[in-house]
Amino acid sequence: MIQLKKITYENFYDVIHLKVSPSQKGFVAPNLFSLAEAYVTSSNDLCIPIPFAVYNKKTLVGFVMLSYEKNENIYTIWRFMIDKKHQNKGYGKALLKETVSYIKTFPMGPASAIKLSYEPENIVAKSLYASFGFIETGEVDGNEIVAKLDL
Ligand SMILES: CC(C)(COP(=O)(O)OP(=O)(O)OC[C@H]1O[C@@H](n2cnc3c(N)ncnc32)[C@H](O)[C@@H]1OP(=O)(O)O)[C@@H](O)C(=O)NCCC(=O)NCCS
Repeated sequence: MIQLKKITYENFYDVIHLKVSPSQKGFVAPNLFSLAEAYVTSSNDLCIPIPFAVYNKKTLVGFVMLSYEKNENIYTIWRFMIDKKHQNKGYGKALLKETVSYIKTFPMGPASAIKLSYEPENIVAKSLYASFGFIETGEVDGNEIVAKLDL
């Protein structure tokens, strides 16, 4: 159902035009910002950004950006979004399944866990992650609640 594809010059414009609904804007950075952050972070050897365009067959439906944190021996799900037009059709769940499977191939190196964070009021994301076994660690990242899935 869901495929992760590299971001190239061909799909870049479409990826940066993916949008969440106005009420979700505080939950995820714009994709343009995330890709700029990926560019800047790639000069830092300790954190490897791994951004993907998310497709259902030929239709672009979302964006996900992972990172591999060498020092901490973890992957993070750094950004995770489904375009507002495509939400509530099961893509978020399918994307999380695909993302966790991909991380379990340890593409950038070994790791003991996946970490992510979400705004306390982001109930949809919180329940989605919890349904895959992510457990809140008690840490916070700014305002965001940190959760972890041991691998
Ligand atoms: C979180 C997000 C990725 C979920 O994507 P999605 O494609 O809508 O998710 P799905 O259709 O697979 O639904 C997953 C679950 O959430 C529920 N859900 C989805 N949208 C919902 C809504 N607006 N209100 C209540 N429940 C909702 C679904 O019913 C489903 O629950 P179920 O497993 O009990 O059936 C999407 O809402 C999004 O992009 N939000 C904005 C960005 C964001 O918050 N990202 C996460 C940052 S940490």
